[in-house]
Amino acid sequence: MDALTPTQTPAADPAAPDAMAVAELDRLMERGARFFGSRWAILGGAMSWVSERNLVAALSEAGAFGVLACGAMEPPRLAEEIAATQALTKKPFGVNLITMHPRLDELVQVCLDAGISHIVFAGGIPPGPAIRKAKDGGVKVVCFAPALALAKKLVRSGADALVIEGSEAGGHIGPVSLNVLAQEILPHIRDVPVYVAGGIGRGEAILSYLEMGAAGAQLGTRFVCASESIAHPRFKQAFLRGAARDALPTVQLDENFPVIPVRALQNTGTKLFLQHQAEVIRRFRAGELTKEAAQLDIEHFWAGALRRAVMEGDVENGSVMAGQSVGMVSREEPAAAIVAELVAQAAAAISARGVSAGGGFAAAGAAR
Ligand SMILES: Cc1cc2nc3c(=O)[nH]c(=O)nc-3n(C[C@H](O)[C@H](O)[C@H](O)COP(=O)(O)O)c2cc1C
Repeated sequence: MDALTPTQTPAADPAAPDAMAVAELDRLMERGARFFGSRWAILGGAMSWVSERNLVAALSEAGAFGVLACGAMEPPRLAEEIAATQALTKKPFGVNLITMHPRLDELVQVCLDAGISHIVFAGGIPPGPAIRKAKDGGVKVVCFAPALALAKKLVRSGADALVIEGSEAGGHIGPVSLNVLAQEILPHIRDVPVYVAGGIGRGEAILSYLEMGAAGAQLGTRFVCASESIAHPRFKQAFLRGAARDALPTVQLDENFPVIPVRALQNTGTKLFLQHQAEVIRRFRAGELTKEAAQLDIEHFWAGALRRAVMEGDVENGSVMAGQSVGMVSREEPAAAIVAELVAQAAAAISARGVSAGGGFAAAGAAR
């Protein structure tokens, strides 16, 4: 069921958003929601292990756009997860594919065969053939743009929409905050809808980015503790306890041994990772390891660590990927309640300024 619609008038419930404000929010989200065929231009960012059938279906049912995380799944496993999600919802949802997956082409084919409407390519610039194959099959392609030049290139390569994800986000991150990315990219990309991600925890923030020209917003961290999320209770508990300052990027000890930055809650694992890097670098300097072997050793430290945290609840040694918005996760509640709250916060912010009958802002708001 949709979280809220403009026809649900608030007369009896003072907490419900007023219809005029919701209509204004609808106007701001119109392009972004139309692109995904969802009620609201809010995406459930794909989270490996967390964004499986239950959370994805719940988000799409709630009027957002759920996105399945393929992660390291092999093609038959992805086909099974898509079918299971389709059994739970008739609403559209997308599939997030990691571009360096060795069987990317087959994964795209699985999406085509299953009638998936949107593929989100993550983890790097997608290869041209993968984009073309998806588009030739009638699938809309969404790509992550880490900078303006790449955003333009991706649009030229056929991306139908872009996500700009700031370093506030949980999981693998780039170096630039959403605050800056939004200013650098939103004014210059008009041909395709651009969705913002990273550190978004409340509806007022979504509204502000819509007003800057974003088509909608993608949130991950806020949805981890949805009741429908199958994340281990200890993983959810870590989110409920976590504050923004606890969600930090991985630290790289030596410029010769690059570490892909991942934002996660600090725990024993993140401390051990520093010691591990120091030890591997010492062995390299002592001639006990080649540079390649040392680099691989560092990269392998976190192998399987997100699965251990999400599925087994090992939140001490596993990787508890979380964005800075983790401090705004305060309870476990249905996905529909989270979506409704985001919408209500955005609508309340619009109401607070006053919206004219024509959908424009009344004098107080317009004069800002
Ligand atoms: C636990 C976790 C796992 C994630 N896994 C993926 C992933 O597999 N693919 C991807 O594109 N993004 C992944 N992300 C990023 C989210 O899709 C989303 O862009 C991000 O969470 C948005 O920022 P926020 O966490 O501040 O809301 C992950 C994020 C988290 C917190």
